[in-house]
Amino acid sequence: MTTKILSMQLIKKLSLIKKILSSLRSKGRSIGFVPTMGYLHDGHLSLCRQSVKDNDITVMSVFVNSKQFAPDEDFKKYPRDIRRDLSLARKCGVDFVFYPDNDEVYTKDHLTYVEVESLSKILCGRTRPGHFKGVATIVLKLLNIIQPDIFYLGQKDYQQYVVINKMIKDLNLPVRLKLMPIVRETSGLAMSSRNSYLSKENREKASIIYRALQKARILVKLNEFKPTEMKDFIVDTVAKKMQVEYVEILDLSSLQPVNKITGRVLIAVAARIAGVRLIDNVII
Ligand code: PAF
Repeated sequence: MTTKILSMQLIKKLSLIKKILSSLRSKGRSIGFVPTMGYLHDGHLSLCRQSVKDNDITVMSVFVNSKQFAPDEDFKKYPRDIRRDLSLARKCGVDFVFYPDNDEVYTKDHLTYVEVESLSKILCGRTRPGHFKGVATIVLKLLNIIQPDIFYLGQKDYQQYVVINKMIKDLNLPVRLKLMPIVRETSGLAMSSRNSYLSKENREKASIIYRALQKARILVKLNEFKPTEMKDFIVDTVAKKMQVEYVEILDLSSLQPVNKITGRVLIAVAARIAGVRLIDNVII
């Protein structure tokens, strides 16, 4: 490890962040990157802490990416609080927060998108058409701007991780991606900026997803259920408190449903409560 930058800097301009990072890179400093849409919680902060441990320099971006929201989704009301984000990032040891305006990222004549086919159309892609195209496009743009050695994503958005990992392989991107464990509230609910939409009571109710997944984990260990039975069990449990969108038991890399539970699998859930869509998963 070389010496750290003394205080965190907020940078809005693409040309400036590129210039600073290029100079640091030429001095041999390693760069870790945490892409976020802000409204930070402990999940984001765990990625920042890992990056600070692994790298000389940590860059975090805060950018609510309009292109990953469908017109009927919550882009306008997505929670934003940059002052709070800056204070939390500083405490974690982040060196640079890249906080660009929309026009800085997407010029008026922007025409290019990245699509990781098939993987983007299943699971969350079914109810959120265009979502992963927007995610892959912004992540590729940010990787080109920051050019990190390692970047960090959270396991809660596991499909996002698989899509981005495939993009990295298919496009031969010179970067390492580290997947970090889900961070949970005390109730077990997976941390998400969207939890802030929920009342205290609904937040408690939504922890049913985690409780169902924990039970499923035990049942898998006991070898008691076939995937279809396990799926039904989780659907029935979660449906007591929420509207289930999907429950799937999947191969970790293809995200295809498994017929038998042998080796490690992903159990993924999407469900709504009071109109708020939540996702969660466990790897067993
Ligand atoms: O996971 C998120 O917060 C976003 O999808 C990401 C990776 C920052 C891209 O906008």
